[in-house]
Amino acid sequence: MAITVKNPIVEMDGDEMTRIIWKMIKDKLLFPHLTLDLRYYDLGMKHRDDTDDKVTIDAANAVKEYSVGVKCATITPNAARVKEYSLKQAWKSPNGTIRSILDGTVFRKPIIVKNIPPAVRSWKKPISIGRHAYGDIYKSVEFKVPGAGTAELVFTPAAGGERVSLTIHEFKGPGVVMGMHNTEKSIRSFSRACINYALGEKCDLWFGAKDTISKTYHAFFKEVFDQEAGARKAEFEKAGARYRYMLIDDAVAQIMKAEGGMLWACMNYDGDVMSDMVASGFGSLGLMTSVLVSPEGKYLYEAAHGTVMRHYYEYLKGNPTSTNSVASIFAWTGAIARRGELDKTPEVTAFARRLEAIVVKIIEDGTMTKDLAAIAEPKVQKYALTEEFLDAVAARL
Ligand SMILES: NC(=O)c1ccc[n+]([C@@H]2O[C@H](COP(=O)([O-])OP(=O)(O)OC[C@H]3O[C@@H](n4cnc5c(N)ncnc54)[C@H](O)[C@@H]3O)[C@@H](O)[C@H]2O)c1
Repeated sequence: MAITVKNPIVEMDGDEMTRIIWKMIKDKLLFPHLTLDLRYYDLGMKHRDDTDDKVTIDAANAVKEYSVGVKCATITPNAARVKEYSLKQAWKSPNGTIRSILDGTVFRKPIIVKNIPPAVRSWKKPISIGRHAYGDIYKSVEFKVPGAGTAELVFTPAAGGERVSLTIHEFKGPGVVMGMHNTEKSIRSFSRACINYALGEKCDLWFGAKDTISKTYHAFFKEVFDQEAGARKAEFEKAGARYRYMLIDDAVAQIMKAEGGMLWACMNYDGDVMSDMVASGFGSLGLMTSVLVSPEGKYLYEAAHGTVMRHYYEYLKGNPTSTNSVASIFAWTGAIARRGELDKTPEVTAFARRLEAIVVKIIEDGTMTKDLAAIAEPKVQKYALTEEFLDAVAARL
């Protein structure tokens, strides 16, 4: 008998090969076992264009209303895509639009499979990365200094009062200069999203910055994190989790020797660099999940990879494909498990966890797509096609 999922999940459909997989996951793995109330939004390229991208905004607002959503990978159009899909314009990245509406932070977490060993021997449990997605060098102003002169930092208060002016450098010759900023509001909501995630996962929270050198800018991040985590000390204790501040260089050194199992909160640039290091260290983009968490506790799950365009063109030609559906399956199970927790329906959460365990077991038993077969130990000679893998999962459910 099908298990009923009590409250709605917001579903955002997407593009290309991931759209094909998306439908297979629902038809083969979910609909036969669950009664789901899905609020469907088609974020496929064509429909975004038809609605002047209004559908993306509606979908993000629906996540605000229902608290849980799941998103298929979508095309962020560039000039080539504008031509390919005859678009009215190069619409903005849907993820960017949704993130700014939910004011959320993106967390990436690898799926651990025994026969895909991490490149770092000590890593046994997933390392999640929370990247601050606002400000610093990503919203900076830069200037190429042509020759000798004075570079200054000037602040003019909107409320009137004295201007603040600091000398950055007395240039004796050519050079470069940059001004960057962040806001207390953004740092605070980032720290809250990280705390919510860590408490939800019952895992330690690490935050690293360079406050010994940047005694105002980086130190302010530390101050906000310390305050926010300090205010929720009792919840950390209840979850059996710990908040740790470290210098960023210490955090990097310790992560290479750690077992994993923590959330590593990173400033924008650190998160950009470290999330790619962690992703490649754990093996494959096809095993990397991603969730957007808002400070109010709204969750949007997705795979960290894109629409796998190259496979889609093969699929359109009628050629066999071997696309990894694991991260997309885990996007669904993440949303379903969260729905179960919020609705207090443990049977729903248990279904999601069982499906995840089956997927991992099937790979460990040697059935996997081409991307994984290439890096598995022991080597796997015969890889599964896209549909074969999903059928193998369906057969065990
Ligand atoms: N979150 C998102 O919605 C998101 C993220 C990234 C890219 N994109 C979009 O996806 C499209 C394609 O971008 P891209 O090629 O840079 O990224 P991609 O993630 O689709 O592919 C990058 C590389 O990894 C491989 N790969 C990725 N996922 C795989 C999987 N599940 N199974 C097997 N191989 C896999 C691809 O074959 C390719 O070689 C672009 O239009 C881009 O805008 C969307």
